[in-house]
Amino acid sequence: MKLKNGIVVGDTHIPKEDKRAIKLVLEVLSDIEYDEIHLCGDIIECYDLSRFRKNPALIGKMKEAIEQTEAFIKDIRTRQPKAKMWYLEGNHERRLNKAVWNRPEFWGLRGLTWQAQLNLDKYKCEYVPAHVMQHVTGKFIVSHGSSEDGCVLRKHSGYSAKGTLEKLLISGIAGHGHRFGCSYLTTPYGVLYWYENAWLGDVEQMTEYVVRPNWQLGFSDYWRDTEQVFVQQHPIINYRCVINGKVYKT
Ligand SMILES: [Fe+2]
Ligand SMILES: [Fe+2]
Repeated sequence: MKLKNGIVVGDTHIPKEDKRAIKLVLEVLSDIEYDEIHLCGDIIECYDLSRFRKNPALIGKMKEAIEQTEAFIKDIRTRQPKAKMWYLEGNHERRLNKAVWNRPEFWGLRGLTWQAQLNLDKYKCEYVPAHVMQHVTGKFIVSHGSSEDGCVLRKHSGYSAKGTLEKLLISGIAGHGHRFGCSYLTTPYGVLYWYENAWLGDVEQMTEYVVRPNWQLGFSDYWRDTEQVFVQQHPIINYRCVINGKVYKT
């Protein structure tokens, strides 16, 4: 059977994205043709709707952030006209749902969804709510990685993967922790594996939440048949990554 390939890109936290890292990912997307693209959540920061403290210098820019996020999706679609594409809901996207749910006067209004805000239909990009398991195969899922989609977040590289694997007992990949890591579990029914998918945000713009976190820049891709998904993690180190022996740098 012919193999299919896919790429998993997430946690860009636009407009707090790491511009050089994003540029690198876009170069990869110009160069390698993928069958499947998973935008695995926290693509937009959605700062204005955060229930956490607010920096007055950063609020009131939601419209620009939405336009920038749409431009990013359009950019991907232009480079990958044929790929199937999904946008998975992260906890930052969930802020919009929660804001609407908390305001009965908004209930029933049209357009208060990310599908509408980001024109996802126009880019043939399917929105996947957090509670939905997005199956790549029957035995492998892509998820954002927060508790709202049933995953486990832990502090160290590989620990979230281990916790999620032991909880869900299915193979997969998720972002949210902003770290790379993986964990394997051999069971009587086969080998299970879970990958953590790093992030693509700018750590310098996150100092109001966290300073010098153990986070890594990067993304993942895979080759698969209907049975098995073979994942390759691509750390971006000093704005370089290597895929299939080719160096990408920005
Ligand atoms: Fe995130
Ligand atoms: Fe997240």
